[in-house]
Amino acid sequence: MKVTTTDKSVDKIAADSLALLFFEGEKPEGELANLDKKISDSISETIKLKEFRGKLYEITSIHTHGKIPAIRVLLIGAGKRSEFTPRIARNLAGAAVRIAQKIGAKSLAFYLNKQESAEEVIEGVMLGAHDLALYKSKKDESEITELIIVGAVGKEVLKHSITVAEATNWVRKMITEPANVMTPSNMVEEAKKLASKYKFDIEIIDEKEADKRRMGAFVGVAKGSEEPSFMVVLKYKGGGKETLGIVGKGITFDTGGISLKPSNKMSDMKTDMAGAAACFGAMRVVGELRPKVNVVMVCPITENMPSGKALKPDDVVVAYNGKSIEITNTDAEGRLVLADALGYTEKLGATKIIDLATLTGAVLVILGNEATAIMGTPQSWVNTIMKASEEAGERIWQLPLYDEYKKVLKSDIADVANAYKSHPEAGTIAGAIFLKEFVNDKSDWAHLDIAGTAWLDGETPFLAKGATGVGVRTLVKLIESLEKGD
Ligand code: BES
Ligand code: MN
Ligand code: ZN
Repeated sequence: MKVTTTDKSVDKIAADSLALLFFEGEKPEGELANLDKKISDSISETIKLKEFRGKLYEITSIHTHGKIPAIRVLLIGAGKRSEFTPRIARNLAGAAVRIAQKIGAKSLAFYLNKQESAEEVIEGVMLGAHDLALYKSKKDESEITELIIVGAVGKEVLKHSITVAEATNWVRKMITEPANVMTPSNMVEEAKKLASKYKFDIEIIDEKEADKRRMGAFVGVAKGSEEPSFMVVLKYKGGGKETLGIVGKGITFDTGGISLKPSNKMSDMKTDMAGAAACFGAMRVVGELRPKVNVVMVCPITENMPSGKALKPDDVVVAYNGKSIEITNTDAEGRLVLADALGYTEKLGATKIIDLATLTGAVLVILGNEATAIMGTPQSWVNTIMKASEEAGERIWQLPLYDEYKKVLKSDIADVANAYKSHPEAGTIAGAIFLKEFVNDKSDWAHLDIAGTAWLDGETPFLAKGATGVGVRTLVKLIESLEKGD
């Protein structure tokens, strides 16, 4: 998609569709009143006749009959002015482009009011327009090839927004690729491309090397699969004394292993690498924008398969930090591979750590598709991440990590069990309680469970169904907040 900006007045814009936001109960004013007059008061008439009320995500299309260069005006309902947020601005831009595509438009102009920023609009449109039917020979809808932002937009904002949106869409594509295409080896190829394009240091630890380094938890999962597995590390030196560690779960397919999932729970498990994909996306943005912060990315990448070599329930493995783990359920594999990734991230000198993982089905029970769960310590680090996610328009909700939850993972034979034996409650928290065993008490660490937010079973007004690319924008905002030193 080509993105251009113009400072022409709104009634002079040539496009297939011209999107205008209106709040509930409000009429065209200023420049828009002038445009309304040129199209014979069509907008104010439509509002007066209550054909358009400005309700959130309401969209009405008005033809302009050649009275202005834009072929049609899309009235986009923005809801109540008092309830408007940057997140809504981004989503409305997505809704506008999705409607424009449905009616066959090729170009979309978006008039910037004062309340939404170009960043939100560009990201919303680019994410909303993205098509995930990768292997369909015929497309159902037209594709918007040009976005024209009507209003003043700085060059940097433009580059930033396009970079973030392109990275997010790239992540969505990786997640959407089936597991026979996006194998661990192919994911590592993507990491290699990032490293060579952006001059990152790269370290690829294969299974044999991981075994030598005593990453017993990762190797335990990896050895069940015929596909080669890797712990992949990217290092970016942007400056400053601190290093941010970003860690992502990269299970390219999760069958559950010997604790095999029932088939209805197994479909969509190609998405179990969404955490790692989000980290890749953030590194791509880092490579483009070169912030003045040090970032290391550590992603364990493997399948979780049942086989003669796979982990079995009752097995015991020893993680990189020396703690022993009783395997009570081989389907709790994400926390195993992350345990070693977290330990290694600390070894590489990261002082602040964030991990992203499609870790538990339980988070869907708690928050549905609407929010990512966050748990971590200290609270100040959790707060920093929550602020970044708020700015990114990605919803996040904190769950507690009380010590009392430790009983869920008590083991009779090892330091900790990877899943409950008799306490099935608090599944999402249990995942984080487990991970906490593998980070140093002195580190700042937080875990984001994105199992509910990484994948949508149905489309929304602003996004296709399927992979969302959640996490990329939060990571980018987080990195930028560390760069600013707050
Ligand atoms: N990858 C799954 C979690 C998941 C479930 C992601 C649904 C996306 C949608 C994870 O590895 C898993 O299987 N977790 C188990 C943990 C349990 C065995 C303690 C789960 O949630 O059932
Ligand atoms: Mn699993
Ligand atoms: Zn999994």
